[in-house]
Amino acid sequence: MNLFRTKAINADIHRDTGLRRCLSAFDLTMLGIGAIIGAGIFVLTGIAAATKAGPAIVLSFVLAGFACAFAALAYAELAAAVGGCGSAYGYAYAGFGELIAWIIGWDLILEYGVATAAVAIGWSGYLNNALTAIGLPLPPELTRGPADGGIINLAAAAVIVVLAVLLAVGVHHSARFNTVMVLIKVSAIAVFIAVASGHVDPGHWTPFLPFGWEGVAGGAALIFFAYIGFDAVSTATEEAINPPRDIPIGIVASLGVCTIVYIVVSGLLTGIVPYHTLNVASPVADALLRLGHQWASAVIAAGAIAGLTTVMLVLFYALTRIFLAMSRDGLLPAGISRIHHGTRTPVRTILASGVVMAAIAGFTPIGDVAELVNIGTLAAFVLVCGGVIALRRSHPDLPRPFRSPWMPVAPLLGIAFCLYLMASLPWVTWLRFLGWLALGLVIYFLYSMRHSALARPSGDA
Ligand code: ALA
Repeated sequence: MNLFRTKAINADIHRDTGLRRCLSAFDLTMLGIGAIIGAGIFVLTGIAAATKAGPAIVLSFVLAGFACAFAALAYAELAAAVGGCGSAYGYAYAGFGELIAWIIGWDLILEYGVATAAVAIGWSGYLNNALTAIGLPLPPELTRGPADGGIINLAAAAVIVVLAVLLAVGVHHSARFNTVMVLIKVSAIAVFIAVASGHVDPGHWTPFLPFGWEGVAGGAALIFFAYIGFDAVSTATEEAINPPRDIPIGIVASLGVCTIVYIVVSGLLTGIVPYHTLNVASPVADALLRLGHQWASAVIAAGAIAGLTTVMLVLFYALTRIFLAMSRDGLLPAGISRIHHGTRTPVRTILASGVVMAAIAGFTPIGDVAELVNIGTLAAFVLVCGGVIALRRSHPDLPRPFRSPWMPVAPLLGIAFCLYLMASLPWVTWLRFLGWLALGLVIYFLYSMRHSALARPSGDA
C-alpha cells in the first residue's frame, strides 16, 4: 500500500469542469473580503482585547497578519499553478501525496464547516440584539442552545438553511449578493472609523501591554479567526474567468485590505473605551452606543449582520467545493460531486451540509469553537507553506504564473508564525483537534484508501 501516492497535476486550469466560469478578479477580491471581515472583528476583537491582549490587540493583529501574509503568498502561487477547486487539499495531493491530502481536506472540512456554524451563532447574537432594540425580542429559549440554558438558537440554524438554498440556486447570483453585502459592511466600518476617530483618548492605551507579550500571542491565536477566509478564494479557481491572474489578485488584495482595516479598527476601539469593558457580544456597536452615537451604533449593527452573512456564504461555498474535490478523487462517495444540470451546482451536497451545519449552529455554544477552527486552519497553512517548497523541488518546470517572492524564506517564516500561534492555543483545543484528525484517519483507512481514484487500475499513481 502506497500512502504517499500522488496524482499528476493537470496544468490546464482553464479546462471545463461543468461549473460556470463567471468570477472576475474584482468578484474574487470581494469574495475574499466577504469571507474575511466578520465575527473576528465584530465580536472576537472585544473578547481578545478584554481578556488576552489589552490595547496591544493591535500587535496581535499584526502578528496574525504576518502568519497569513506568508501563507497567502504560498496559496497564491499554488492556486495559480495547480488550480482545482480543492484549495490546500489539491495542492497537498500534488505536493505530498494522498494521505497528507486527506488529512488537510479533512482539516478544511472542519475549518469551513465549523466556522460557518460559529459565525451563524455570532450573527444570531447581533440579530437578537437588533430585534430587542426595536421591541421584538425572540423568546430567550429560542436564542441559544441547550448548553447555554435554551432550546435552540433558531436564527442561527435558519440563516444557514436560507444560505444553502441561495448557493444551490447558483453561484452567479450569490456573487452579486455577496458584492452588495460587502459594500454594506465596509461602509459600516467606514462609519465606525469616522465617528471613533473624533473620540480617541490616548489615556485608554495605557497600560499598553497589561497581559505582557504572552497576552499578545494568545490574542493573536484567537483573533486569527478574523483573517480566515482569504484562502477560500482559492476554492473558486474553477469558476474564475482567468484563474492564473485573478486568483492571486483576489487572495493578496483581500488580505491586504482587511489587515489595514483590522489594525485601524482595533486601535480605535481600544482608544475610545477602556479595553476591559469590551468583553460583550457586540463590542464595536456597544462602544459607539456608550459614546452616545445611537444611529452610528445601529449602522454598525446592520453592517455586522450583513458582514457576517457574507462570511457564512463564502465559507459555506468553500466547504462544498472541498467536498466536491475530495469526492471526485474517490476519497468521499461519488454522489457528493454530482452537479445538478439545471443550476450547475452540487445541490445535494449543499443542502446536506447545510442541514448538518444548521444543527451545529442551533444546538452548540459559540464558546471555544473559534479556537478549534483556528488550529485546523493554522495546520492547513503550515502544510500549504511546506507544499510550495516541496513543489518547487518536485516540479521545477511547472508553469507558475504567480511566484511567491523570497523563496524559501517566506514559506518557512509562514510555517514558523503558524506553529507559534498554534502553540499559543489552549491544550483543550489541541485535544479536540487531534480527536477530529483521529476520526479522519479511521475513515481514510476504512473507506477512502480503497475507493480512491488512484486505487483503480486507471489511476495515475
Ligand atoms: N474571518 C471570518 C470572520 O471573522 C471567519 O468571521
